[in-house]
Amino acid sequence: MNGNFSRIVGTGSYLPAKVLTNHDLGRMVDTSDEWIYTRTGIRQRHIAADHEATSDLALAASRNAIAAAGVRPQDLDLIVVATTTPDMVFPSTACILQSKLGVRRCPAFDVQAVCSGFIYGLATADQFIRSGQYRHALVVGAEVYSRILDWKDRSTCVLFGDGAGAIVLRRGDAPGVLSSHLHADGSYAGMLSVPGTVCGGKVSGRPLLHMDGSGVFKFAVRVLDEIVEETLAANRLKKTDIDWLIPHQANIRIIHATAKKLGLSMERVVVTVEHHANTSAASIPLALDEAVRDGRIRSGQHVLLEAVGGGLTWGAVLVKW
Ligand code: UT7
Repeated sequence: MNGNFSRIVGTGSYLPAKVLTNHDLGRMVDTSDEWIYTRTGIRQRHIAADHEATSDLALAASRNAIAAAGVRPQDLDLIVVATTTPDMVFPSTACILQSKLGVRRCPAFDVQAVCSGFIYGLATADQFIRSGQYRHALVVGAEVYSRILDWKDRSTCVLFGDGAGAIVLRRGDAPGVLSSHLHADGSYAGMLSVPGTVCGGKVSGRPLLHMDGSGVFKFAVRVLDEIVEETLAANRLKKTDIDWLIPHQANIRIIHATAKKLGLSMERVVVTVEHHANTSAASIPLALDEAVRDGRIRSGQHVLLEAVGGGLTWGAVLVKW
């Protein structure tokens, strides 16, 4: 097949074994299961073991996606990892993942768009495949947010979790990925950030997550509304043409707002936030893998993926399954 479209031919995911419930958090900070669940829809999150790096989570998810696609690691022409919690300053987590997969030479790089990272990574890989340059691409979202949280700050530590999801894209004659839509507004950089950096052999600035939660909430609802309209218009589709919404899993109230905008019943929305919390770049491929493996998503259906996150960044990808 030498067509100029990309199609998702395998999905995979990985969650660390340790589970931290809202009740566990209630023993660590002044919060409750009731507050967390009603404000966010979260009941629990997974936490990486001390020995697990982002690349380890990415490796486990990638192996599952590669097996599902029926390819070998050496068939990959491109590796893109979306992460905000890389193993180290450099080399990229994608290069470390490539080595752990036991392959060499194919290009490997990280994409940094925080919670929109998987959408950015998928859009980037799709462009390389559409241009005819590559046949197989691995796109991964992997995060260990537990390492950048202030575990004494109840307004942020209850919201996030660790995990990884991956897909394999293959060039083909028919879509596949119908369109991708990416945006950013850096004037909101301070609204959601980890301001620390490495400087002169020391960490300079606070290396922990800071968020104006209600500011991000309002921004998210507005731009997700807009991105849904933009994506439908670009594909000349109606709201009723969307079979599945796979939103970034930050807050069930944001997800409800997007579903309402689309006129979609919640049965058509893949929701994992209850069990995973917000896993940033990993949340969409984790949710996608769950819905593919349990048979909800079927051939010929329109699947809309959308996210918003630090940057601020936002975007959507529409896929025909
Ligand atoms: O991944 C993409 C980026 N992230 C997001 O999309 C997250 C967007 N934002 C949100 O999801 C919500 O804004 C939050 C869940 C973060 C907060 O919900 P909210 O309804 O906007 O609450 P709030 O920040 O207005 O806080 C309400 C109250 C405050 O108390 P006062 O000032 O009203 O007395 C907080 O101190 O809730 C308090 N509070 C908590 N109480 C118990 C904040 N965190 C907690 C907590 N437990 N964990």
